[in-house]
Amino acid sequence: MIKVKDLWKGYGKLQVLKGLNLEVNSGETLVILGRSGVGKSVLLRQIIGIESPDKGYVEVEGVNLSELNHHDRLKFTKQMGMLFQGAALFDSLNVGENCAFYLRQHEAKLSEKEIQARVSNALKMVDLEGTENKMPSDLSGGMRKRAALARLIVYRPHILLYDEPTTGLDPVTAMQINDLIKTTQKELEATSIVVTHDIKSAITVADRIAFHHDGKILTVMETKKFIHSDEPLIQSFFDNAVVTEKELA
Ligand SMILES: Nc1ncnc2c1ncn2[C@@H]1O[C@H](COP(=O)(O)OP(=O)(O)O)[C@@H](O)[C@H]1O
Ligand SMILES: [Mg+2]
Repeated sequence: MIKVKDLWKGYGKLQVLKGLNLEVNSGETLVILGRSGVGKSVLLRQIIGIESPDKGYVEVEGVNLSELNHHDRLKFTKQMGMLFQGAALFDSLNVGENCAFYLRQHEAKLSEKEIQARVSNALKMVDLEGTENKMPSDLSGGMRKRAALARLIVYRPHILLYDEPTTGLDPVTAMQINDLIKTTQKELEATSIVVTHDIKSAITVADRIAFHHDGKILTVMETKKFIHSDEPLIQSFFDNAVVTEKELA
C-alpha cells in the first residue's frame, strides 16, 4: 500500500532521514515509535507528499509521489488525511464550519445539505454530536483533538496519518483518542500510520510497530513481538517509559 524506499532528507547540514525503508500493508495500523527529534514528523510529511526527498522515494498504491507534478500530487494525496501535531482548529470558525471547511473548498459539487450531513455524521463518530455551533475556545483539549479528527473524517480518506495524537492529553482523554483511532480505522476501512513516542498508545492501537532510530527504521514487528523484543534500544525505550505489567501482558 505504502512503500518508503531508501529515503534521505536533510535540512542544511542536518541529515534527518538516512536511507529509511518502510512498508505499510493495506488495512493495517502501523505505529512508528521513536524518541523526540528522530524525524518522525519529517517522515510523515514525506509520506503525505508535502515535502520532497533528497534521495529515494515514497510510493502509494504503486504511484511514486516524486514522479507526479505539484497539481497531480495534490489531487492524488487527497485520499490521505493527516492529523497534525497540535491539531489546530480555526479559532474564528465554529466546530461545524471547521469540519466543513475543506469539503466546501474541494468538493464543489456537494450540496449544503450533503455537507451538513457529512459533518454531523463525522461529529457523531468522534462523540461530539450536536456541537456544530460551539467555538473551539469552548472545547477542552481532548474535544478539540476529536473535532480535528472529525474534520479529517468528513473526507473519508482511506489513508490516515496521525502525528502524536495523544501527546499533551491526560491519560483518560488519550485512551479515548486511541479508541477513536481504532473505530475510525474500522469505519473507513482505512490504512493508518500513527507516529508517537507514547508506548501505551502504541501498543493499544498498533497491528505492527516500527522503531524509528537515527534516521532509519531499525525494525518492524507485530505488537506482541515488539513488546518482548530483546533489542537493547527498544528495551531502553521501554525502561524509560512508565508501562504497567498489565499493559504489557
Ligand atoms: N523544516 C525544517 N527545517 C529545519 N529542520 C527541521 C525541519 N523540520 C524538522 N527539522 C529538524 O529535523 C529533526 C527531526 O524533526 P521531527 O521530524 O520534527 O522530529 P520528531 O521525531 O520529534 O517528530 C529535528 O532536529 C528538527 O529540528
Ligand atoms: Mg514530531
